[in-house]
Amino acid sequence: MKNHSKKLIIVANRLPFTVKPDLSFSKSPGGLVSGLETFLKKSEIKNYVWIGWIGSHVDRKKFEIIKKKAKKLKTYPVFIPVKLIDKFYNGFCNKILWPLFHGFPTYVVYDESYWDTYVEVNKLFCDEVSQHITEDSIVWIHDYHLMLLPSLLRNLFPKIMIGFFLHIPFPPPELFMQLPWKRELLEGLLGCDLIGFHIYEYTTNFLRTLSRTFGLDHKMGGILYQDRFIKVETFPMGIDFNLFHNACERKNIKNLVKKIKNQLKGKKIIFSVDRLDYTKGIYNRLLAFEKILLTRPDLHEKIVLIMVVVPSREGVEHYLRMKKQLEEKISEINGRFGKIHWTPVLYYYRFLNFEELVAHYLATDVILVTPLKDGMNLIAKEFVASRKDKKGVIILSEFAGSAKELGEAIIVNPNSIKDLAKALERALEIPEEEQKERIVSMQERLERYNILKWGNDFISTLESLNDKKYKLTTKLLNQALINQIKKSFKNSYQRVLFLDYDGTLVPIISKPHLASPDKDLINLLKKLSENPNTDVVIISGRKKEDLEKWFNGLKINFIGEHGIFIKKYNQDWESLANITSDFKNSIKNIMEIYVDRLPQSFIEEKEFSIVFHYRNADPELASLRVAELIDELLILTGNMQVNLVLGNKIVEIIPAGIDKGVAANIFLREKNYDFILAIGDDATDENLFISLPEEAITIKVGLGRSFAKYSTKSYIEVRNLLENLIDHE
Ligand code: G6P
Repeated sequence: MKNHSKKLIIVANRLPFTVKPDLSFSKSPGGLVSGLETFLKKSEIKNYVWIGWIGSHVDRKKFEIIKKKAKKLKTYPVFIPVKLIDKFYNGFCNKILWPLFHGFPTYVVYDESYWDTYVEVNKLFCDEVSQHITEDSIVWIHDYHLMLLPSLLRNLFPKIMIGFFLHIPFPPPELFMQLPWKRELLEGLLGCDLIGFHIYEYTTNFLRTLSRTFGLDHKMGGILYQDRFIKVETFPMGIDFNLFHNACERKNIKNLVKKIKNQLKGKKIIFSVDRLDYTKGIYNRLLAFEKILLTRPDLHEKIVLIMVVVPSREGVEHYLRMKKQLEEKISEINGRFGKIHWTPVLYYYRFLNFEELVAHYLATDVILVTPLKDGMNLIAKEFVASRKDKKGVIILSEFAGSAKELGEAIIVNPNSIKDLAKALERALEIPEEEQKERIVSMQERLERYNILKWGNDFISTLESLNDKKYKLTTKLLNQALINQIKKSFKNSYQRVLFLDYDGTLVPIISKPHLASPDKDLINLLKKLSENPNTDVVIISGRKKEDLEKWFNGLKINFIGEHGIFIKKYNQDWESLANITSDFKNSIKNIMEIYVDRLPQSFIEEKEFSIVFHYRNADPELASLRVAELIDELLILTGNMQVNLVLGNKIVEIIPAGIDKGVAANIFLREKNYDFILAIGDDATDENLFISLPEEAITIKVGLGRSFAKYSTKSYIEVRNLLENLIDHE
């Protein structure tokens, strides 16, 4: 953190420790805890607290004892009554969110009471967190158990910085949309300033889901939601590289490695270690091992699989069923192939401490990390980091987030037992030189983006958003700025106002030909234009006929079709285009193909231009099709005298050399204006903003980068500003 006096509040379902029945503490399982714990240890942040659940049921009295002990570790337990835990943790978290997010929709148990409890427990977390918040706290919430917490806190503390990191995959929209509570969960997350995911795929899935559910568009991962700027970003979680890399030098680890190797002398060691979970692909691993034993009798007694399974979520049926299935398969393999001096699978159902874990990494020839789906998987990274000897082979599932960074591993699809077995056979043969090459490149990468970098990156991004928040609010038109504009309007002698139409004076509606001005707008423009020495120019992409019809009788000037036509008050239309519109037919042919390919899109033909509209189309399909259309149009129009204009949900082709800026300057050359105001909402208006003199007041409606000096939220604020100008007397 830039300022180390700020307080970091970490909130996760689990505290770093789990309370055992005798009230002693043991390390909590999982990647989240090991990652965060290491980050806090390594980082310079000393002013932090960690709020979470103790991982077991205790009564109130015992809870108070634990609370005191926990405080010394800067941790604050949340009391979750026994009657809520099952439905919250086993229920909503692990029978709904976990399977769905990992792509196991058939494992999901839709139970309304799980949801009610999830809401209730998120509120309990909110109560505890609220007690720790100070003015400059940064709250960093973790994982799927607490997706409602950001908004709950936002309602109570509108100004604090809130970040959220999801440690598991975010599913594609088709899966997420199956949740009856999808809107509530997304709204919950949108209470944040920053939302982070392990890999780009999850970030995109989330952004696509937002677009489908709320029609929320993003610009480079930035979203404007209820007046707030929210950033969605990818932060691949790393590990404490040096800790693992240097562990091989510790004496007790060396001894352990020796012991393992001695016991299995002459055999190649294949290792796997996971939390008990159906997402980890443990059963498929056994099937692949069995296949090898079947097809390669020459390997009998020469290989051994050490399989460690760490107990987890035994309160969920799928986990228990899976444990039984694993154990049955292991005894089947050992029964069938084992000999007096050789047990093919050595199975342990227990937690390994750091030293035991690293000793196994170091004694191993091949490690199998083959989840069916995994948010990141730190085991893969830890193994690679710990091999200072540059030996060992890793077989890694393409569905683990870490596969994106560990491309030199043997990458497999764990759904194919045949491929898994083949990969294993291959891995056993890889010469040491090649092992070294692969490991070295992966180590370089892991060393660079380690756990400290991950945490610091997240927090500094969050802090930079605080600055952005500030910038956004100063640039946003506020009452003080409106007063200033009002004042210069009043004190000026010759005024011109360039006002775009769709999206600026009226909302964007689904049928553009129905967007005629309402009475209020007509009255407003009437009063405005009747001000002495005030030229109002409607500057639009609209056809000249529409503009004339809609504003008939007002003392107004027009610029139509993005600058092709100009009509000064009381004069005739003039055209700035001196070319024919022959180009339209070939462009229309292409656009028609895309109308067929993108339901709800349509073409609008104007005298000198042609427009492809897609405001009603499915935003996701539209982004794909429109990109293709633009690509084709650019190729086709390469040698034509035309410009391609990307407006608000439109792609338009107009004659070259013409835009709103060019047309507006024709007005500016005629009079000496000392008050120039321009307001618009899309890319076509940017040409106007950029072409106006420095002193012009330019206002962009909506989110996004702009050449305009100010921004405002919607056409409603634009009308409010114009009302203010009228009332200047
Ligand atoms: C994954 C999740 C964590 C969770 C861990 C252990 O890593 O992302 O949030 O804590 O598994 O699971 P458990 O249910 O025991 O907390």
